[in-house]
Formats: sequence, structure tokens, C-alpha cells
Amino acid sequence: MTQDELKTLVGQAALQYVVPGDIVGVGTGSTVNKFIDALATMKGQIKGAVSSSGASTKRLKALGIAVFDCNEVAELSVYIDGADEIDDHGYMIKGGGAALTREKIVAAQSRQFVCIADESKLVPTLGKFPLPVEVIPMATQRLIRQFAKLGGSATVRLKDGQPLVTDNGQHILDVTGLQISDPLAFESQVNQWPGVVTVGVFAHQKAHVCLLGTASGVKTLKF
Ligand code: A5P
Repeated sequence: MTQDELKTLVGQAALQYVVPGDIVGVGTGSTVNKFIDALATMKGQIKGAVSSSGASTKRLKALGIAVFDCNEVAELSVYIDGADEIDDHGYMIKGGGAALTREKIVAAQSRQFVCIADESKLVPTLGKFPLPVEVIPMATQRLIRQFAKLGGSATVRLKDGQPLVTDNGQHILDVTGLQISDPLAFESQVNQWPGVVTVGVFAHQKAHVCLLGTASGVKTLKF
């Protein structure tokens, strides 16, 4: 099976976690796009979605799924999202699509985080994928120096030759060279640095379930 077919498989498998009558939390990315397409088949059974990005909102609306603002709803039963890396504790690196801040907010508002990913995303230790960090632009150079002290090399993510601007009007640093052996401690540490909006380690907002697309079908990992 191709990677795209594996994404379709897990996107469809995630429907079993959607609670009829509820509002569902929706992440961002190519795997989530498959989930959104599958969700359209049961749109009559849900109230709608809370979305984690402009891109997902656009896709949801185009398929006729109502999108609610985070502030309009209390707790969500489930949040479905992809990951750039996931380990065997359900800790993740996210933010490859630059939507990490809103993703973390919606994840925090949800009782259960269901990660959908193809098997290439499962890793023993987080850090091979460049770690995305959303930052306030005036702190960029200071934060680059901070990451260097941890052995990381941080660069500003560009789009069309200019710093990429997130849905929140901020910039993204991508940090390579890190081996994140204690994701909970790492996330807490980087969260303390002035100018960091969101670090792309999702340890405090880890996945509870991962639907992993493998050559032999969907594997369910529970953490
Ligand atoms: C978006 O900012 C990310 O957190 C995505 O969830 C992550 O990059 C996975 O994306 P794909 O499903 O496209 O690999």
C-alpha cells in the first residue's frame, strides 16, 4: 500500500471514535484531510467540528460540516489529529503544517486524543523530525541561541523566501539535532522560555490512542 492509501485507511478508521450528536475536534494535515473526507459521510450524525487551522476549517465547510469556535464549546469528547512523530508512550512531535498552537489548544480541550498516522511516524525517540516551535518574531535570535545550548540547530521556516506567518501571526523555528529522551521535561522547559508561543512536543497533550496504518492493516496502539 502507498503512504497515501495508509492515510486513507486510518482516516476512515478514526470514524469509530466520533461520538454521534457531539462536536468533534479536528486537527490539520494530509492524514486529517482523509479523516475530514470520511467525516463528511456521517455529517448528519454530528453537530459539527472545532477546527485547528484555517486549512481544516476551509475543508470542513466545503463538505458542509459546521465549524464552531473553541470558545463556543466546553469539553470535546475526542480530538483527531496526525503527527510528525509518535513514540510508544503516545508522545508526539507536531507542527509540520505550522498549526501546532491551535492543535494543542483543541487537544487540551478534548477528553481523548486519537492520533492517526502511517507507520513511518512511529519512532523510538522523538527528535529526528525537525522540531517546530512557534515563536514571537522579536525573540527569534535569542531562541535560536537557547536551542544551540541544548545542541539543537534552529532555523526560521520560510515560505516564498519570507518567514512563514502562522494562523496566529507568528513565526516557526524548525530545530534539528535534538534527541528528546524526556518529552515531558523538555516540553515544560521550552515552554518557560520567553517568546515561545508553542513547542511542537505534545507530551502533556499526548495521544491516548494511535491508529497506525501498516502494510497489514490498521494497528491500534493504546497509551
Ligand atoms: C500540522 O501542524 C501537524 O501537526 C500535522 O498534524 C502533522 O504535520 C502531520 O501531518 P501529515 O498528516 O500531513 O503528515
